[in-house]
Amino acid sequence: MRTIIAGNWKMHKDRAEAETLIDALAEQVGNTERVEVIIAPPFPFLALAVEHLRDAHIGVAAQNCHEALHGAFTGEVSAVMLKSIGVSAAIVGHSERRQYYGETDAAVSKKIIALLHVGMMPIYCCGELRVDREKGTHFEVVRMQMNEALGPISPADLAKVVVAYEPVWAIGTGLTATPQQAQEMHAFIRQELRTLAGEVAAAIPILYGGSMKPDNAKEILAGADVNGGLIGGASLDAGQFTELVRIAARAAAHPSIP
Ligand code: PGA
Repeated sequence: MRTIIAGNWKMHKDRAEAETLIDALAEQVGNTERVEVIIAPPFPFLALAVEHLRDAHIGVAAQNCHEALHGAFTGEVSAVMLKSIGVSAAIVGHSERRQYYGETDAAVSKKIIALLHVGMMPIYCCGELRVDREKGTHFEVVRMQMNEALGPISPADLAKVVVAYEPVWAIGTGLTATPQQAQEMHAFIRQELRTLAGEVAAAIPILYGGSMKPDNAKEILAGADVNGGLIGGASLDAGQFTELVRIAARAAAHPSIP
């Protein structure tokens, strides 16, 4: 199973700060064979990241893309454009996109199809709100999200998707799912993927996102179905992000028995 550590910078850093962080990561992360490392800087810094990370074994992802490949969509960026500058993946369906920009799973599904069409890796985010968890409907919510966004994708294409479970109540709040809550939901997601895609589900990485930091990563990554992390806040600091990569490499070297 692949292990992935992906950094979601969100709308942070100016050009000079971005360059400093990218260069620090290029130097510090090194060639970690066991972990696929990806960073997702804001659009204006993607080309810079691709150039500076060419020899660093760090992939570059966008934080969003439009569902159409071209067209009159002022202010939008397509998968074709991203692919043409060497961006290899894109985060889609992040809860902030859902909350502030009304992104639905139906739209996210089209984005996934566009990304797969150009040969990019979609990192599909799902996860429940605090109110869903309190009501006990968190599994149902995640199932509905997955069915709508991933249902239209063929099993062969689903094998190229990465899923990130991001409980919305844990994002940027300092709250994290307990390792048990994370593993329980990841196992559920794996089961749903099996229903949608059959055997390929076993090899689809499921990342945890939501206040993952060096001091809680080891326990969360110990879950049998936790295959890495999507890191927000801690990805803005080279030292913390590099430490997370090291922790994930150690966890990948000693996988728990499912
Ligand atoms: P966080 O963000 O690590 O700052 O909680 C995670 C995310 O939104 O991907």
